[in-house]
Amino acid sequence: MHAAMQEKKLRELCKKKGIHVSAYSPLRGAQWGFDVVLGNKLLKEIAQKKEKSVTQIALRWIYEQGASVIMKSFNKERLKENFGIFDNNWKLTEEESKEIESIPQVRTAPGFEFGIDWRIVGRKILKESPNPSSTR
Ligand SMILES: NC(=O)c1ccc[n+]([C@@H]2O[C@H](COP(=O)([O-])OP(=O)(O)OC[C@H]3O[C@@H](n4cnc5c(N)ncnc54)[C@H](OP(=O)(O)O)[C@@H]3O)[C@@H](O)[C@H]2O)c1
Repeated sequence: MHAAMQEKKLRELCKKKGIHVSAYSPLRGAQWGFDVVLGNKLLKEIAQKKEKSVTQIALRWIYEQGASVIMKSFNKERLKENFGIFDNNWKLTEEESKEIESIPQVRTAPGFEFGIDWRIVGRKILKESPNPSSTR
């Protein structure tokens, strides 16, 4: 879950069923070059207005939705920055939250990688292998 993949329906279902939501990849795999969160124009505008970083706005929004944030950084300064979402009780205004809800949604992990029929892949490997038994 992140600002560009808000999973509204899923979160509503979880709320009804008493299931807590955790947002892993809250910046949507920034390290892989995805910029759907950090490059978002609206998040940048809100960050500038509030004198916060885009990351802080993105993480704060998740936190305010009642989800926990599974953030990762190998950088001490960025870790501090990320914890800054709790500083001095600042928060997003209702209007800002509403605006964030209007961010176009993307499915950056369409899930096809989980839909692979490994039996087909296995057969292909066996067929292409000069000595099938050596693939074990
Ligand atoms: N269970 C699963 O299937 C699953 C799937 C995905 C992720 N996860 C876990 O969830 C955690 C987060 O996932 P993720 O790494 O994909 O998350 P992410 O939201 O993409 O964030 C991590 C990336 O953002 C950078 N970053 C962190 N703070 C930043 C800041 N303030 N400004 C700019 N860049 C910042 C980090 O770089 P630096 O380290 O250089 O700061 C890193 O490249 C990880 O521990 C991961 O193992 C689990």
